[in-house]
Amino acid sequence: GPSEIGVPMDLEKLLADRLTPAFAAVAGAPVDPTVRRSAHADYQSDAALALARRLGRPPRAIAAEVLDRAALGDLCAAAEVSGPGFINLTVADRALGAAVVGLVGDPRLGVPRVAEPETVLIDYSAPNVAKEMHVGHLRSTIIGDATARLLRWRGHRVIRANHLGDWGTPFGMLIEHLLDLGEADGAAELSVGDLDSFYRAARAKFDADEGFRARSRLRVVALQAGDERTVRLWRLLVGRSEGYFLGVYRTLDVTLTERDFQGESRYQPMLGPVVEELGRLGLLRDSDGAACVFPPGSVGRDGEPLPLIVRKRDGGYGYPATDLAALRYRTGELGATRLLYVVGLPQRRHFEMVFAVAAAAGWLPATARAEHVGFGSVLGADGRMLRSRAGTPVKLADLLDEAVARATELARRKNPGLEAAEAAEVGRAVGIGAVKYADLATDRHRDYVFDWDRMLSLDGNTAPYLQYAYARIRSLFRRAGEDGLPATVEAVRVPLADPAERALVFALLGFAPVVVEVERTLEFHQLAGHLHRVAAAFSAFYERCPVLRAEGAVREGRLVLCGLTARVLRQGLDLLGIRTPERM
Ligand code: ARG
Repeated sequence: GPSEIGVPMDLEKLLADRLTPAFAAVAGAPVDPTVRRSAHADYQSDAALALARRLGRPPRAIAAEVLDRAALGDLCAAAEVSGPGFINLTVADRALGAAVVGLVGDPRLGVPRVAEPETVLIDYSAPNVAKEMHVGHLRSTIIGDATARLLRWRGHRVIRANHLGDWGTPFGMLIEHLLDLGEADGAAELSVGDLDSFYRAARAKFDADEGFRARSRLRVVALQAGDERTVRLWRLLVGRSEGYFLGVYRTLDVTLTERDFQGESRYQPMLGPVVEELGRLGLLRDSDGAACVFPPGSVGRDGEPLPLIVRKRDGGYGYPATDLAALRYRTGELGATRLLYVVGLPQRRHFEMVFAVAAAAGWLPATARAEHVGFGSVLGADGRMLRSRAGTPVKLADLLDEAVARATELARRKNPGLEAAEAAEVGRAVGIGAVKYADLATDRHRDYVFDWDRMLSLDGNTAPYLQYAYARIRSLFRRAGEDGLPATVEAVRVPLADPAERALVFALLGFAPVVVEVERTLEFHQLAGHLHRVAAAFSAFYERCPVLRAEGAVREGRLVLCGLTARVLRQGLDLLGIRTPERM
């Protein structure tokens, strides 16, 4: 759009810009020409078909008239009506070559920085203190981090909010359990990451032991009252868990740091005022002693209105009140205008209600928008929730270790000449890359099956396939030497004679529009799928078109395409949070 600067040459948009006035003249009103890549021509528009119904005229006649009026001469080698009324466009080599040269000279590969940066807050990862991170947190971390990377690269101000579960009634029993174990031993257990056994042991005592239950309740009261010793123990629990989570983030190679922890506890002082304000606004209803808001449009299966409980009967505030306070803080104090909540689909209703209440209270003004970036579950090979062989929930750290071990083994087998240190480095990049890519390459709304063999396969829509394509190009350049490329951008002559060259060029030009689209939809499988198409187009090109054995301008031009392919793969994978080793 007009708000973007420095777009080199987006062919799709150029063609659309030429067709738009022609369509408008024919229709007597603005029409989106819907120019898309097509299997039947370089680009195709099907807008005449939709327009035919409205104008009551045959679509082919409309398409022909549009073509008569459109000035396409410099861009297209052919423009014709086909089938029931499609417009097929074949781009002229000159225009195509110029577009590629534009990309070569653009360090941003055709993706402009936004002219008007937004403050975007991304709520992601958000594990719970003294509990193991589960695969849901893994998905949130992976998707949230790709979101942060892509929006940063586009030029937005990004706030990473790790909404850690660090408050609530369970802390009574957790602190009591810590005291029972002895501070030192208990803290040690948490540091090594044995979070689930710690939590389960506390829970078991709580369920079985009346005395422990009573102590736990008193401990919650002490925590809320700010009792010094209790708060110190609480900090200990939180700190050890944070340390453990940071270790997982390091392994996972995500951009989250200790500065991004913005746990639920931060909002405790705001909960009272938030509920009071809801009361003043006349939004509160009493339901059985609990303070509730009934957001319009929130109804259960039988049509009965559903409440968001903001203060429980016992006077305590819970998860919904905390999210309301956080949202108010994020728009009001942090100035966020786009709020992204990367949380599993089971919490969809919760966020719908929180957003509706926030809007009603004026905390989500018309200039800001909140989105639940939901995602499905990770399943085991049996189609059920992912479990370890022992039947317990999989521990994330173990899962990542296994990914790295498997990929290191793969790297050694593939390339026995690799030194141990490099094999380990490649194993890390490939193993972690494979886990992330398997997640990001599936439509996030869907569940996906966690399958080692598939995600580590060297062919298919996988990280190793893309990383391998990248490494292959790098090795080509090691052999070609430094002087393989044209001296200046102006000297580039883009080879387009072979259909495989043209196909690769279109894939490379398609990178920028996909990135811009994913910024809006946060559907990373579109980006992954496009990168896979780039790598596949490269393989086909590389099979048909000799590079190092070609000569003169053809060799130079093909090396340019190789170089551009490597840059697109590297940049695209970087946006997904995946590394590209120089050799594999
Ligand atoms: N800690 C929560 C959980 O594990 C996720 C928090 C998501 N973010 C939020 N603002 N509610 O389910």
